[in-house]
Amino acid sequence: MSNRIILFDTTLRDGEQCPGASMSPREKLEVARQLERLQVDVIEAGFPVISEGDFNSVRQIATEIQGSKICGLARCVAKDIEAAAHAVKPAGKRGRIHVFLATSKIHREFKLAKAQDEIIRMAVEGVRLAKSFVEDVEFSPEDASRTEPDFLARVTEAVIAAGATTVNIPDTVGYAVPEEFGNLIGSLFANVKNINNAIISVHCHNDLGLAVANSLAAIKAGARQIEGTINGIGERAGNAAIEELVMAMKTRKDYYRDYELGLNHREIVKTSRLVARMSGLMVQRNKAVVGENAFAHSSGIHQDGIIKKRETYEIMDPTEIGWGETELPLTKHSGRNALEQRLKHLGYKLLKEEVERLFVEFKTIGDKKKFVYDDDLIALVDNQINEVQETFSLEYMHVSSGIGQIPTATIRLRKGEEVLMDAGTGDGAADAAMQAIDRLTGKRGHLVEYLVRAVTEGHDAIGEVSLKVNFGNGELVGGKAASTDVIESSARAYLNAVNRSFLLEKTKALSIPSTP
Ligand code: KIV
Ligand code: ZN
Repeated sequence: MSNRIILFDTTLRDGEQCPGASMSPREKLEVARQLERLQVDVIEAGFPVISEGDFNSVRQIATEIQGSKICGLARCVAKDIEAAAHAVKPAGKRGRIHVFLATSKIHREFKLAKAQDEIIRMAVEGVRLAKSFVEDVEFSPEDASRTEPDFLARVTEAVIAAGATTVNIPDTVGYAVPEEFGNLIGSLFANVKNINNAIISVHCHNDLGLAVANSLAAIKAGARQIEGTINGIGERAGNAAIEELVMAMKTRKDYYRDYELGLNHREIVKTSRLVARMSGLMVQRNKAVVGENAFAHSSGIHQDGIIKKRETYEIMDPTEIGWGETELPLTKHSGRNALEQRLKHLGYKLLKEEVERLFVEFKTIGDKKKFVYDDDLIALVDNQINEVQETFSLEYMHVSSGIGQIPTATIRLRKGEEVLMDAGTGDGAADAAMQAIDRLTGKRGHLVEYLVRAVTEGHDAIGEVSLKVNFGNGELVGGKAASTDVIESSARAYLNAVNRSFLLEKTKALSIPSTP
């Protein structure tokens, strides 16, 4: 058995299932490009059948990304499998279809109302159909960790015989504990005759905070593919965090000496930050490996130890993960060429007209700020990437507020040829602007989360606003924008959420039941 561990990233599929984390196709493409630089082996780019937007996004990623395999998810249903097959087709031999069907007793009885033999028949048919489109087929018995082990072994053997090249064992509800989960994987190796004809994978959720530990236990028991997400984002408490898995195996090479990984760990911090910005899910400060505090030592004893020898209190070298890569800032005197070079260094692949627009914005910012840092540039590029096909764009805003005054905002929006203007009042300047936007767009948003962050230090820093809005249907829609004026960022971020909600309505996910 090869000891190469295949890293399967599902940030764009399971990660995006996190409430309020939905990304536009452009944002997903940026994440996919960065995942390629990170050198993950497989990118699960989406669930093509759920909407036209998901389908097109998987297809676009399958067309552009060359360095990783591209996978599309499908239920065990012909229309799902066909949609996934068409979406990953541009990836050619690097295309994978991932078919799933629940196998646990509770899912069989209450969700599917199907007997064991029927489940096996459907799984085999699904795998065979997928196999008629691509060579690389993954099958997942959903809720595997709560499936009777002997039945799980029967399903595994049947789908491998039908042509599955990977069988993924999901801990769908994050119920497993490490030793038991390792034993489950071990029992498959002991009881499934044809197990060596496929790669055994695991996909662990983090409901008990054990996703990474369970995945590591599975590797010791024979699993050779690990599924996870960047920053551990995903359904409910999320998935196994890829950066934690990789750094655990790298740092404890003495314990995981027999295994090999293909990941470029120097891209970890960059990837984590990009995913946080694109998904709007900020990373907690004390998060392992990628949190702001992961390498911050505040106690005097620790600082003293670090100065004498870094390894006294640091088990990882932060620079190996991409921490602390700072470049000299640009200024308003820097030219187009310097800007283009810096954007390239930051990993952006922008169209000519995007660079032109950015250059204008860069000059405007350069006039306001002495130095334009990489984080400022990232915020400006994000402003462009975040722009969903705009339904409404902000043309003019005047805000008046102060102590003893009623905050008022006058806003002018453009919608195609139409120009709309109105005013709103609120309990603050940002609220007034949002009220005016509601009046103009006909939306009625309830702000559920509102975060302001200075992207660099200093009074003149760019302020980035990231918010989540409920437009009445219970679904959270994210919005983001950055400017040196936080009231402007707030209005733009809110309008960004309004535009996203129109886009979501248009490409509305057919809320598909999990029952085939
Ligand atoms: O958690 C899960 O079971 C899944 C499957 C689709 C693999 O996400
Ligand atoms: Zn999952």
